[in-house]
Order: sequence, then C-alpha cells, then structure tokens
Amino acid sequence: MDLQDIKQRFGIIGSSPALERAIDIARQVAPTDLSVLITGESGTGKEVFPQIIHQFSARKHGPYIAVNCGAIPEGTIDSELFGHEKGSFTGAHEARKGYFEVADGGTIFLDEVGELPLATQARLLRVLETKEYIRVGSSKVQKTDVRIVAATNVNLQQAIEKSKFREDLYYRLNTVPILLPSLRERKEDIFLLFRKFAADFAAKYRMPAIKLMPDAEILLTNYYWQGNVRQLKNIAEQISIIEKTRDISADILARYLPQINGSSLLSIVKPEGAATGDFSERDLLYKVLFDMKKDLNDLKKVVHDIVQFNPTNISNLSHDDVQILNRMQTEATQESTLTDVMLRPSNVTILNNGTPQKFVEPIVVEETLSLSDKEKEMIIKSLQKYKGKRKLAASELGISERTLYRKINEYGINE
Ligand SMILES: Nc1ncnc2c1ncn2[C@@H]1O[C@H](COP(=O)(O)OP(=O)(O)OP(=O)(O)O)[C@@H](O)[C@H]1O
Ligand SMILES: [Mg+2]
Repeated sequence: MDLQDIKQRFGIIGSSPALERAIDIARQVAPTDLSVLITGESGTGKEVFPQIIHQFSARKHGPYIAVNCGAIPEGTIDSELFGHEKGSFTGAHEARKGYFEVADGGTIFLDEVGELPLATQARLLRVLETKEYIRVGSSKVQKTDVRIVAATNVNLQQAIEKSKFREDLYYRLNTVPILLPSLRERKEDIFLLFRKFAADFAAKYRMPAIKLMPDAEILLTNYYWQGNVRQLKNIAEQISIIEKTRDISADILARYLPQINGSSLLSIVKPEGAATGDFSERDLLYKVLFDMKKDLNDLKKVVHDIVQFNPTNISNLSHDDVQILNRMQTEATQESTLTDVMLRPSNVTILNNGTPQKFVEPIVVEETLSLSDKEKEMIIKSLQKYKGKRKLAASELGISERTLYRKINEYGINE
C-alpha cells in the first residue's frame, strides 16, 4: 500500500516531507515486533500511528488496546495493566485480567507513557525484556506476547534527567522512534488541513464551507499553532459555526486566534512568499497590536458600563456589551471546545479482534469501580502491609511520600 492509500485510509491530511517520513517509518516497522515510541507536541496527530502499525502487522486480527497512562491513578495502574488476584487488596473481590493479559497476541498502545509511575515502569521494562509479568498480589510469573507502541508529548530526556523516567526503559521503548512534526514545521500542510476541516464541518452542520480570503490565508499559515492540528481543527469548527459570512478575512480569523503574547502569535520562521505578497509580517504584527488594543478598549467599555449601572445585575448590560463579553469568553475557551472533548482519548479503548480494514469504532471499556475508591483501598492495603511505614508504602505505590501524605489526608485514612 502506498503512502497516499495509507493517508486516505487513516484520514491523514498533509504532504510535508516530515509527515510522510513518519508514515513511511510506521509502515516499515509495522510487520516487525519492535517497540515504537511516537513523540511530538500535543495535537500533532500521534494517535493514529499505533493503529497504522497494528493494522499493517501480522497482529492485525489480534486485540488492539489503547491505554491512556496519564488518566489512571498511580495507585491502581499496576492492577489495570497487569491484573490482580482475588483478595490482593481490600475490595479485590474477584481476580481480574490486566490489559497485558487481554492484549496477548495483539498490540498495546501506551499513550502518555511519560506519566507512568516509576514502579510501573519497572514492571513494563520486565515485559519488554522477558515478556513476563506478575499480577498484583500474585507470585506466579505469566507470559504475554504483546507488541508495545508508546507515545508522549513530554520530553522524556528531561524526565530522565529529573529521575522521573527510567533511562533503560526509554531505550527499550525507543527501538524505533517516530517524530511527528509540529504545524510550524510543516506550514505547507496548514491550509490543506484547514480546507479539509472546513469542508467536514460544512457537511456536518449542513451549511456552505467557510473560505479564507488571501490575507486570512497568510495569517493562518504564519500563526504559531501551539496546539497544532487539534487547535486548527477547533478553530475551523468555531468559525464555521459562529460566523454568518462564509468569506473569512484576516480580521475575522484574528479574533479566533488566541494571543498568548506578541511573539508567539506568529511563528518565527519567515513565511514563504511573504516578501512577494503585500501583507508583510510587520503588517500582521501591527494588526495584532491593534486588535489587542481594540479588545482592551472594548473591555474598558464593559467595565465602565458595569460600574455605571447596577454592578450586581449583569442583565443591565447593553446588547453590545453582552456580545463583547461572549466573544471574549469564546476566545478564552477556544482550546476546549466540544470537538476537543470528543477527540480526547478516554482511558482505554479496545478494538475488536480482527477488525475490518476500514475505520473501526473503538469499544470504550468503562471502569466499573470508582478509581478513587480503588486508590484509597490500595493505599490502606499498602500502609497495612508496611505497618504504617509511609516511605515503604509510597515506594510500592509508585508515588512520593508527599503525595501519599496528601492522599492520606484527602481520603481521611486513619493509620
Ligand atoms: N495529519 C492530520 N490529518 C487530519 N487530522 C489530523 C492530522 N493530525 C492530527 N489530526 C487531528 O487532530 C486532532 C489531534 O490529533 P491527536 O489526538 O492524534 O493528537 P496527539 O498528537 O495525540 O496529541 P496529544 O499529545 O495532546 O495527545 C485529532 O482530531 C486528529 O484527528
Ligand atoms: Mg494523544
């Protein structure tokens, strides 16, 4: 299958060399059993890569389990991943299989792997080195044949320096690295992505697609895009829904782009073709400053009106003021729109065995027990085991003594 087919099948937009290289590495490494570490800033599109690797491997008929390591409490993650025996801690009424047992013969995707506690990292290293693991509360060594793909948006080298991530595990996971470029590094894809999202949202909301005017296109391409594709997609959706006009000027677009600070609004790299266009980077910066000034004036007006009228009753605000406040609120929250919530991964998703070649709807595994209850139980159990010695309990739970101390207070645990 060539790159174009893979892109089409997995809904990947873009043709920059760095993106194509990432897809090519995924395709090549897929048939091997090597571990893969996918890195890249938040929102760069890492999530689809483990699926490409799984689908192009001999394991494609086996299970595919995606685990969001950052979303599982430290105290329960070992039991989630490796299972536990009945009675291994208070509340463990039944023995339970862990994801490494369920994924036997398939692929496990450890998302946000940098968030794994050190104790779990040790267990994971063992699986990588010997394919062996032990359920929590058991002494029986079990075998599993699982291919591990991990992803992270944190700098693991720095985490290693801070002793938060094991160096040996890093090298084991990083057998084959795949680096997803930021949008700033693939400016040529920005407009393509925007156009695709605009078309998708037009279809979804049954309205004509928004179109960028030439000045807006330049602004779009040279914006910093801290949240990468996720942010671009959110903004395409917001404009599609909120704006009545379908012709989007730079003025309109600028209202939707968060202004973190003057220097991060535009990417540092000089825009291609900017010299020939009549819209220079300096013009854009001026525009940003004017927009900020306008916002400030708008805000002053709203505050003035609030003070003038009854300060306790917001319904006294003029229609204009309410609109200004709404717009500002939208701008402030545009990183967390509905799409973002929908697109953020749940803790764990499992795809059916032998999924068909086309897109597969993940089955979301609901955690039936309350995680905080489980965490509390694990803490109590561990404290009992070590006769109240917090240092030992904290080490077993894979958390710092300080965190343990905080959690003991939080849960009101009497030692
Ligand atoms: N090349 C692309 N083509 C089309 N859509 C993309 C592309 N890259 C990313 N997306 C979309 O952008 C959104 C964010 O991507 P994704 O969830 O994979 O980010 P991520 O790299 O896992 O970020 P994080 O580190 O925050 O988890 C998703 O909706 C995804 O479908
Ligand atoms: Mg992700």
